[in-house]
Amino acid sequence: MEVKRFDVRAITNTNADRQRPYGAQERSVISLEGLGRALDEISTWPGYSRTPLVNLEGLAARMGVSKLYYKDEGKRFGLKSFKAIGGAYAVLAILQGYLASKGIAERISAADLISGKYRDMIADVVVAAATDGNHGRSVAWGAQMFGCSCIIYLHEHVSQAREREIAKYGARIVRVKGHYDDSVQQCAVDCEANGWFLAGDTSDAAGAHVPSLIMQGYTIVAEEITEDLGDTLPTHVFVQAGVGGLAAAVAAYYWEKFGPDRPDIIVVEPHRADCVYRSIAAGRPTSVPGDTNTVMACLAAGEVSAPAWIILKHSVDGVITLPEEAAPEAMRLLATGVGFDPAIVAGESGCAAVAGSIAAALNPQLKALFKLDHSSRIVVIGSEGATDEDAYQRIVGRNSETVAA
Ligand SMILES: Cc1ncc(COP(=O)(O)O)c(C=O)c1O
Repeated sequence: MEVKRFDVRAITNTNADRQRPYGAQERSVISLEGLGRALDEISTWPGYSRTPLVNLEGLAARMGVSKLYYKDEGKRFGLKSFKAIGGAYAVLAILQGYLASKGIAERISAADLISGKYRDMIADVVVAAATDGNHGRSVAWGAQMFGCSCIIYLHEHVSQAREREIAKYGARIVRVKGHYDDSVQQCAVDCEANGWFLAGDTSDAAGAHVPSLIMQGYTIVAEEITEDLGDTLPTHVFVQAGVGGLAAAVAAYYWEKFGPDRPDIIVVEPHRADCVYRSIAAGRPTSVPGDTNTVMACLAAGEVSAPAWIILKHSVDGVITLPEEAAPEAMRLLATGVGFDPAIVAGESGCAAVAGSIAAALNPQLKALFKLDHSSRIVVIGSEGATDEDAYQRIVGRNSETVAA
């Protein structure tokens, strides 16, 4: 299959500082110690296993690089995205905090909650979150698994298929007029008014605890990559961003663990929801005015999360923004595979990182800008599988099971 070129926008970060130590401020948001706690916890949940790191030799050859590894988060629990290890982890922490505050038990385990031991005490606890789809699915899944109630806020552009996937875990759905950022605001207001626990993955407060915990869960993605690659560090990691939580988790992990030897972190976003691009260009958080609606539905955020920004501002090396057609093209390319590469099921947002890496490698100027050459070892985060099956079939022309078979 032909690998197409697209007009992307790209910048490098003039505030990136490879020699800067990973300091107390960064560690207060995300830390290797917190990763250890998240891994101890999440690896005990039923169904946990490391997601595959797929070596795409055909595509790497076409791009003129040494290695291209695709981290397939479509295989994360039954939820088909990395979000499973963020939102549900926050729900667990909220319930642990609640039971401790009532003097019932200190740091009860996930297994105790799953067994139903505390069910009567937490049945009336409500967790709520706004979402483009995958985060809400994770929070609803966590609430059902651990036994509390859940309300999920969806803006008007979230598809029916995504709503169905969330509702099947027993969450009540509230639809909000407007865009993602409107649903985030409405959810926060309603939590405050009703005494619900906010399980949001973004915040405009740099010290917000829950978004940090959620990012801490995401660091498992990067740790698993290291477990698979051993001593061979990637030279570049391409990762997509909505509010920047996943990118911050990946960047923080490499920064703290490998210091100046860390790989370059390249963030990929849609043109239409380019809040990280604008913020890196301006050197401070800068929001996207107006409509952020995009085919990359889960990246449709207009504002960078403040705790994520603490990490991103000095650790992101570059940002690429994609036109709308890049994502469907990458989905079809991955579904077919290049040469002997296996077929991969990737959703509209999940394929953004690979689309960005292809765009960079096939464009001589960007190749030079991002120091890509025949010796580069690239990791791309494939952040979701077919989380919206209707959209997947419409775009790829086959259902995801057929592609995966
Ligand atoms: C599949 C997928 N990829 C990437 C992202 C971006 O994550 P973040 O909003 O933390 O930047 C999301 C967010 O919902 C997502 O669902």
